Amino acid sequence: MYTNPMRQTLTQIYDARIAAGTLRPDPAQHAVLPELESLRIWLEQNATRRTGLFAGLFAKPLTPPRGLYLWGGVGRGKSMLMDLFTDATEIAQKRRVHFHAFMQEVHHGIHAARQRGVEDPIAPVAEAIVKGTRLLAFDEMQITDITDAMIVGRLFEKLFAAGVVIVTTSNRVPEDLYLNGLNRALFLPFIALLREKMIVHELESPNDYRQHRLAGAQVYFHPAGKARAQIDAIWADLTGGGIGQPLKLPVNGRTVELPRFANGIGRATFWELCARPLGAADFLAIADAVRVLIVEDIPQLSASNYNEAKRFVLLIDALYEAKVRLICSAADEPERLYTEGTGSFEFERTASRLREMQGAGWGQG
Ligand SMILES: Nc1ncnc2c1ncn2[C@@H]1O[C@H](COP(=O)(O)OP(=O)(O)O)[C@@H](O)[C@H]1O
Ligand SMILES: [Mg+2]
Repeated sequence: MYTNPMRQTLTQIYDARIAAGTLRPDPAQHAVLPELESLRIWLEQNATRRTGLFAGLFAKPLTPPRGLYLWGGVGRGKSMLMDLFTDATEIAQKRRVHFHAFMQEVHHGIHAARQRGVEDPIAPVAEAIVKGTRLLAFDEMQITDITDAMIVGRLFEKLFAAGVVIVTTSNRVPEDLYLNGLNRALFLPFIALLREKMIVHELESPNDYRQHRLAGAQVYFHPAGKARAQIDAIWADLTGGGIGQPLKLPVNGRTVELPRFANGIGRATFWELCARPLGAADFLAIADAVRVLIVEDIPQLSASNYNEAKRFVLLIDALYEAKVRLICSAADEPERLYTEGTGSFEFERTASRLREMQGAGWGQG
């Protein structure tokens, strides 16, 4: 078998980043690396061999190792570790996807299969996912929606049966997934399945690195035109340099789209969020889906921008309640953004929230 002579272990890659100063040493993160490394080695050695359902008649059945369910508080480095692992794993049959986006795709697939009159629509969807994929890496597994809750069990069963290795990050221990959800009893076999097929590892780091990175950093920039480069730099720092992808969120049977999303960070312009006919439910869904939101180009609003101002108030309220970190560029200080139209008095509360959300401790915990 060909082995890359330059190949470094995950621990070596991690240590090199510490030496270069891009990461700080963290024993809790360090402890996960050997676990990921053994998955990586197995995948690199077996990615092209058939397993499970697809094993040939005479092929020796190959049992894949248990995957990894990495959970813990926000900013602990879960996504960073998962990216390190997926990037370094030298196989073509790998896919890293935000869990939310993945489920979206699954729903589309199920819908299409139903329209074709397929009786068990999960089967062709699982088959399509499995085709050419040996490693599935999900970022931010969370289950809040009953339609998700009712299909993940059968879906994952098929993925595991086909020998796919799953690695996932989550803010919750499996037992707390879909907590207090409707018909939760029907969901419990999924938790048991995760426990059986994955090693559940809590990333017990005491540090919230996202807060560290933003602590004391400027998060409200004006005027907007000059802030572009600084905001690009913050985006690059928090996302690890990705360009991001649109994130489609289900809201009452519709979808609302956040134009750019990567690693829990959303990015949009004021116009993309507030000049479209979005309402409170849309902003709540957005606030729920991100840890940090970048809103660029907030203009000076006049009386004729009443609708945009009203939506902006709803947006800030939703972000405030969800304790999202907000980074924005605006035409002026918060208090001078909307001073003369209908509701400008109420806007004072929004301005005050914008100030509060700039505080160093905002969004912690
Ligand atoms: N050991 C570390 N030293 C410095 N920065 C880190 C470290 N671990 C993670 N980070 C950075 O902190 C931020 C949050 O990490 P992330 O992996 O997104 O956290 P989580 O997925 O657990 O919420 C990212 O910008 C990440 O690159
Ligand atoms: Mg994350």
